[in-house]
Amino acid sequence: MAEKGGERSWVMVNRAPVLTLWAAVVAEVLGFEHDEALTLGRAVAGLNAYSKGVSLGLFQPTPKEVKEQRWKMRKDETVTIDLLHRAVPVKHTDEGLRALRDLKIEFCRHCESCHKKMMDCPIKDDAHLLLKKMLDSDGIIFASPIYINQITGYLKTFFDRSSHFIHCLGLLGKYTGAVATSGGGAQEVVLNYLEHFSTICGAQYVGGVSTTVPVTQEMRDKATKMGELLAEAIKNKREFPEQMREIESHRSYFKRIIEAHKEEWSGEYKYWREMGWL
Ligand SMILES: Cc1cc2nc3c(=O)[nH]c(=O)nc-3n(C[C@H](O)[C@H](O)[C@H](O)COP(=O)(O)O)c2cc1C
Repeated sequence: MAEKGGERSWVMVNRAPVLTLWAAVVAEVLGFEHDEALTLGRAVAGLNAYSKGVSLGLFQPTPKEVKEQRWKMRKDETVTIDLLHRAVPVKHTDEGLRALRDLKIEFCRHCESCHKKMMDCPIKDDAHLLLKKMLDSDGIIFASPIYINQITGYLKTFFDRSSHFIHCLGLLGKYTGAVATSGGGAQEVVLNYLEHFSTICGAQYVGGVSTTVPVTQEMRDKATKMGELLAEAIKNKREFPEQMREIESHRSYFKRIIEAHKEEWSGEYKYWREMGWL
C-alpha cells in the first residue's frame, strides 16, 4: 500500500512470488547460497503444504547442518529438505544445490476430452498445472537434454498433453526460446523441433541455445542473451513477419479441421467462434 497526497493506493501481488522470496530469504538465513536459495524458494511456492514424517530421510536444515550436508553430498545425489514445512527435493550439481520440481505427468490417452470440452482432461495429474502456467506466462523457455537425437520422452509426454494448444493456438501472442544440452550431437534437430512446437501453438520463437556439457561461460553468456531477447520481444511486442505468416498458415489449416469436427470437438468449435476465427 502507498500513500500519495493523502490518497491510498494498493498494489495487488500474487501470493506465489511473495512466498518464493520469503522462502528464499529463509533459505539464505539457513546457510544456503543465494542461487540455491532462489531455486528452493521457487520450489516451495509450487508445493502444497506437506505433513512431516511422510517422507523418510528428510533433512531439516540448520545453518550448521547445511554446511555439513553440503560436504557429505555426492554429485548428482538427491536429498529432501524441509523448508517452511514443505518437502523440497534437491540435487547436488556442479553449480551447488538445486531444487527439483517433481511433477507427475501421465501419457495422453487420446480420449479427446480436451477438444470436446476445452482443456477438460480426465487425467488428474500435474499436467494441468504446467499448462495453466504456460497460459499465464508472456514468455516460455523450453529446455531438454537430448536423448537419442530428440527431446526427452518426459517432455514429449507433456507436449502430447497440450494438443489443445495446437488446435486453438493456445500460445498466440506469447514468446518462446529453447535450450538443449547434449553429449555432442543432434542439437539443431532438437532446437528445430522445439521451434516447431512453439509455432504450431501460435507463439513466436526468439531463438535457441544448445550446448554440450559441461557448459562453458561462452554458452552461459549466449543463454543470457537469449533470455534478454525474449524479455525485449515481450516488452516491445515484437513481430517476426515470417513466423506470423507460418502461424497464419497453421490457423487456416486448423480452420478446416475444426469446421470438419464441429460436432465432436464442440468446445473448441465454440472457442473458434468466440475468437471470431470462423
Ligand atoms: C538416454 C540417454 C540418451 C542420450 N542420447 C544422446 C544423443 O542422442 N546425443 C547426444 O549428444 N547426447 C545424448 N545423451 C547425453 C545427454 O544429452 C547429456 O548427458 C545431457 O544433455 C546432459 O545434461 P544433464 O546433465 O542435464 O542430464 C543421452 C543421454 C541419455 C541418458
